[in-house]
Amino acid sequence: MPQPDIRRPVVAGAGTMGTTLARIFAQHGFAVTLWNRRTPSLDRARARIAGDLDRLAAQGLLIEDPAAVAERIAYTTHEAAFDGADFVVENIAEDLEVKRAFFRRISPRVAPWALLTTNTSGLRVTDVAQGAADPARFCGMHWWNPPDLMPLVEITRGESTSPETAQAVHALALALGKKPVIVQKDILGIVGNRLQYAVMREALHILATGAAGPEEIDAAMKYGPGFRYAVLGPFETADLGGVDIFQAVSDYLFPDLNRDQRSPALHALVDQGRLGVKAGDGFYSYAPGQGEAARQRRDDLFQKLWEILREG
Ligand SMILES: NC(=O)c1ccc[n+]([C@@H]2O[C@H](COP(=O)([O-])OP(=O)(O)OC[C@H]3O[C@@H](n4cnc5c(N)ncnc54)[C@H](O)[C@@H]3O)[C@@H](O)[C@H]2O)c1
Repeated sequence: MPQPDIRRPVVAGAGTMGTTLARIFAQHGFAVTLWNRRTPSLDRARARIAGDLDRLAAQGLLIEDPAAVAERIAYTTHEAAFDGADFVVENIAEDLEVKRAFFRRISPRVAPWALLTTNTSGLRVTDVAQGAADPARFCGMHWWNPPDLMPLVEITRGESTSPETAQAVHALALALGKKPVIVQKDILGIVGNRLQYAVMREALHILATGAAGPEEIDAAMKYGPGFRYAVLGPFETADLGGVDIFQAVSDYLFPDLNRDQRSPALHALVDQGRLGVKAGDGFYSYAPGQGEAARQRRDDLFQKLWEILREG
């Protein structure tokens, strides 16, 4: 496996994603800088990382002393942190102009050979890359939340990204213990979200028809396709099941699948403030503490699943 020669990584943005990314780098032996424009977020990030490292140590999931890992993370609000950096992963606000302005400011500071990446969820990498001095050395690096537990990292080539850049970021993601995929075209939603939202549209449609409720649809997904998809992708599934079967079913089912451009159900929930766990209500209701318990259960099961699937 090629090892990336990265010595001065900087994680930009100390929110949900950046904080955990900094810890992932440190856990994999990198001395990393976590940059954020304001101090309070950095203070919160430091406290969250310390708590997470202690929890991992208590669970026996850390091979080192938590303090030794924590020491590899430097926290700063100064853009001088980018001077001579050879890798940057940007996790700031999901706003094209904000991201472009960020890359315009830091591009002159980083090493000439630096690789610059954005963790954008939905913006075109090519558009964000316009802020970078050298778009050939720029690509998408889309992590899934929670990034320490979700194996996939999508590496998207913008129109000017060189193949070498994508390969080097791929090697870095492997060195960070991930299962990276290189996406050769800058497509909206990349691969994972296109698949996820195709499922979401159909789930909302089944709900609207009254054929099944949220609990039945969630159960059908988890114990049917979801169970299978943790082991096999759609094409492996088709090959094992028989392509002829998939052709026959797709001929009658594709025309019947939902093609709505917009979801009235999602809009109605948002209008009612039913935003899910964070609001105590969404597709389900959450009494105080239940949302946190659901999150913890998710993380514990993700951890167990990954232990089974890591080598797969
Ligand atoms: N949260 C997720 O599930 C998730 C998953 C994958 C990718 N992403 C993407 O990662 C990026 C960060 O998401 P997050 O959930 O960590 O966000 P967040 O709101 O938790 O953190 C964003 C950070 O950006 C900083 N910031 C905001 N405006 C800024 C500006 N103008 N200049 C510099 N810094 C600024 C904030 O101080 C904050 O620390 C986004 O592009 C998001 O789309 C998020």
